[in-house]
Amino acid sequence: MNKTPRRQFLRAFALSAAGGVAVNRASSQPVASDLRPRLVGVACSPRQGKSTRSAVQLALDAAEEAYPELEVELIDLAGLKIPGELAAGLPLEPGQIDDFPKVAGKLADPRVVGLLVGTPVYMGSMSALCKAFLDRCIVFRRDWALRDKVAGALAVGGSRNGGQDTTVLAVLAALMRQDVIVVGDGKPIGHPGATLQSQQESIESDETGCASAKGLGRRVAEVALRLASKPANR
Ligand SMILES: Cc1cc2nc3c(=O)[nH]c(=O)nc-3n(C[C@H](O)[C@H](O)[C@H](O)COP(=O)(O)O)c2cc1C
Repeated sequence: MNKTPRRQFLRAFALSAAGGVAVNRASSQPVASDLRPRLVGVACSPRQGKSTRSAVQLALDAAEEAYPELEVELIDLAGLKIPGELAAGLPLEPGQIDDFPKVAGKLADPRVVGLLVGTPVYMGSMSALCKAFLDRCIVFRRDWALRDKVAGALAVGGSRNGGQDTTVLAVLAALMRQDVIVVGDGKPIGHPGATLQSQQESIESDETGCASAKGLGRRVAEVALRLASKPANR
């Protein structure tokens, strides 16, 4: 099947799953954007506007370009307060800020069919912010709100072979506890997630890493739209 009919096929499925009118941006017809299936990318660097955010945005842009019937949204956790200890049932201290509920509200939206989690590599694993975020996602297990959403992981390190691979696996291990369906960056790379190196605060020179981020975005979108055509048997 060549690309265009395949996209039409997936789009038709996505529309029927969404139960509404969604229109390809390229067609310039009206867009009922609130009904489009949505792909959300969460950037988990504590630093605003840095490489992890760029990498997640790259993945989302590639997904949107390949599947314009999808709506994409980036949630940047930088600057947000996500106290991880609340996941263990500790109370919010007086004056303590918790931004997790507003993030959770976006993720639990049934229109969200795909989720990308991007983190910097810190000491060979995910950032504390990413861990706190994934721990707080334990609330979704009460009603399995993330079940059957398609998820992918992305890691940005400062070094080549700096632990991006193990970081991706750690993120995927947490995501799988939500009964999501995890995918990697797809062919032709076919790795468990996107792995990038940031140099001088930029991922631009890492061509292979950027290709893996784009591949991940497209793969999450592709599988998510396929699954959206077949509502889960809850
Ligand atoms: C505490 C800390 C630990 C780090 N550990 C690693 C590491 O193990 N491997 C690596 O490749 N880079 C490591 N780095 C570098 C970051 O992964 C890199 O700067 C990345 O681009 C940060 O993401 P950001 O630019 O989105 O903030 C570390 C940075 C910090 C601050």
